Amino acid sequence: MPRLGILISGGGSNMVALLRACQAGEIAAEPVLVLSNRPEAPGLAKAEAAGIATASVDHTAHAGDRGGFSRAIDAALTRAEVDLVACAGFMRILSDEMVTRWAGRMVNIHPSLLPAFKGLDTHARALEAGCAWHGCTVHEVSAELDSGRILGQAAVPVRPGDSPASLAARVLEMEHRLYPQVLAAFAADPAGARATPIALIHPACNAG
Ligand code: GRF
Repeated sequence: MPRLGILISGGGSNMVALLRACQAGEIAAEPVLVLSNRPEAPGLAKAEAAGIATASVDHTAHAGDRGGFSRAIDAALTRAEVDLVACAGFMRILSDEMVTRWAGRMVNIHPSLLPAFKGLDTHARALEAGCAWHGCTVHEVSAELDSGRILGQAAVPVRPGDSPASLAARVLEMEHRLYPQVLAAFAADPAGARATPIALIHPACNAG
């Protein structure tokens, strides 16, 4: 069973969904470390409450030194003997050296239907573009931002009057469904998960 490390920056709602799925036996992985770039990230307390070891590598202590920050993150993951890394609301970019070292063993969730809307402020950009659909993507982490192999996507409808916040909430609901399913498939059989990406649609769209 792979030892799972989860990288967070904030509230960690996706991390909570992953921990719940691991502890329910839905993901065949053992969560061994939750690591944040922000020592004050609220998600760290949630991980501790779930009995998972936590650590933080303050990115402000490595200002302008992505390599040094990445090496500190890598060292913490290695100390915990992590096999598989899930970035879950993790808002820092890791060095190419680290991404290469973890190739095939690091995944991320991004709040858009990639390749659309890479980067930040995805919900506002989707509304601005007049999208009828928006959603989230779980992908392997590669050197190019938000561009690794797609392992799963979930689509949500954009509704009249949606604000970035209301759309983000609808997407987040699907992130919490998509990420555990994709990580379960990837942890069990990476090649199979790559060959058959998971596709979900918001349940409101299935109403007859
Ligand atoms: C989520 O929308 C995630 O996709 C993005 O950060 C947001 C918060 O994630 N990367 P979490 O609640 O900290 O898991």
